[in-house]
Amino acid sequence: MIKLSDRLSAVASFINKNSIVADIGTDHAYLPIWLALNNISLKIIATDIKEGPINKAKHNIDSYGSYGLSEKITLIKTDGLAGAEVYMPDTVVIAGMGGELIVNIMKNASPDIRKKARFILQPMTRTSLLRRFLYDNRFDITGEKLAYDDRIYEIICCQYDGQKHLYSEAEILIGKKNIEQRDKLLQRHIKNRIDVIEKRINGYRRASASMDTSADEALASDLTELLNGIKGLNK
Ligand SMILES: C[S@@+](CC[C@H](N)C(=O)[O-])C[C@H]1O[C@@H](n2cnc3c(N)ncnc32)[C@H](O)[C@@H]1O
Repeated sequence: MIKLSDRLSAVASFINKNSIVADIGTDHAYLPIWLALNNISLKIIATDIKEGPINKAKHNIDSYGSYGLSEKITLIKTDGLAGAEVYMPDTVVIAGMGGELIVNIMKNASPDIRKKARFILQPMTRTSLLRRFLYDNRFDITGEKLAYDDRIYEIICCQYDGQKHLYSEAEILIGKKNIEQRDKLLQRHIKNRIDVIEKRINGYRRASASMDTSADEALASDLTELLNGIKGLNK
């Protein structure tokens, strides 16, 4: 039986029983295989833009020959969600890609999918850009998780609700739900973000003494306050 990494397990934990899932950028197809073997999803559409990953996915699906996975999993070579709309997925997973690419895939999704499906997103980079896009486009972030494999990964579950959502810069960077839930990785996650901001401030200062670093300084100060507050609660 296939064992998912902590990152993909965290993604899978957001997928509801009997859902119709589109896994975009499936690569090895580990998630669709796991969902099918565990009878979580009724139907999984697994897409990838490249031939190599599609062949790899097909090989992995076929290796479970006697389980009849190819009846549940449909593989499509396509860009993002193009062509997936005919299957009407109620859940869309976009994992293991840069935040900017995830935003582009969501922008290009058919209005029907964008407004009706639950999206489970796991950006490798530019998480802030992704969260800002979601809030600005009236998505509600309904769940978040942190997972650790070789580093901390962020998983965001969201759905369009048409509402205007307000957020702070700290919430955009760390995740409002992550902050509320006090995940065991939260302190480390915040500390990593503070380190990145402080490195950036020092880099700017070395480049030019007149560079305006006030926004970064304010954010680092808010995050430090948040971190100290959490540490205080945990004492
Ligand atoms: C690093 S793998 C992630 C695999 C898997 N989703 C995971 O999280 O383990 C990224 C995959 O996304 C695919 N990809 C990149 N851009 C894509 C696009 N626009 N549409 C579909 N797949 C894409 C790549 O070919 C690659 O197989």
